[in-house]
Amino acid sequence: MARIGTKISASVLSADFRKLNLEIYSIDDLVDEYHLDIMDGHFVPNISFGPDFVKAVRKLTKKPLDVHLMVEKPEKYVDSFVDAGADMITFHTEAANYFTCSDYIRKKGVKVGIAYNPITPAYIFGEEMDRVLLMSVKPGFAGQEFKKEVLKKIYEAKKWVKKKKYNIEIAVDGGINDKTAYQAAKNGADIIIAGSYVFKGYNHKTKIQNLRQALFLGHIMRKKI
Ligand code: DX5
Ligand code: ZN
Repeated sequence: MARIGTKISASVLSADFRKLNLEIYSIDDLVDEYHLDIMDGHFVPNISFGPDFVKAVRKLTKKPLDVHLMVEKPEKYVDSFVDAGADMITFHTEAANYFTCSDYIRKKGVKVGIAYNPITPAYIFGEEMDRVLLMSVKPGFAGQEFKKEVLKKIYEAKKWVKKKKYNIEIAVDGGINDKTAYQAAKNGADIIIAGSYVFKGYNHKTKIQNLRQALFLGHIMRKKI
């Protein structure tokens, strides 16, 4: 399937950590990047993994790594995740000073993502970020249902970025499967982040191919902006 339009990021949180290397190798030539969810038990109720885990993933792939900080005071952790091999650091606008944190990340020489919870309006001031990450579930856990009301937000964010001619990607994170990936692409998503759909069950490759096909169709059916 030709790779046009929306990219695929695999969320490693749902991989089987007992065989992380095999999980990554099974899809590495098919995905565009990996997504690493960092949870601190404060900003979100769950706790996931830290920089050493990211370092291990870094050794398994050359694909870009996006580190999604679902933590309080994200600026405190930027250095250690950059050192661990992150190519992009995504922080939550609800958890940090928007401009100070994005400046800090950019000065470390990696890309900047800004994440918005489903109920947070996606304001974009300028080109302070490389990516807008729109959460389509409440952050903290994998395997939740996609919130359909976020589709309008994807469309509006894409429209704004296009109008302003910004070089900013629109990413969608949470509850992505072949059906919701199609909807996200149709509404203007540039990248979808999928965890459970890809890693649960055995045939990870088929799942990625299903997503690729859904995104292709979504691209063809993309709403006019
Ligand atoms: C949710 C995380 C997501 C999660 C996606 O808090 O930010 O990245 O890993 O998992 P699924 O695809 O299972 O919703
Ligand atoms: Zn995430």
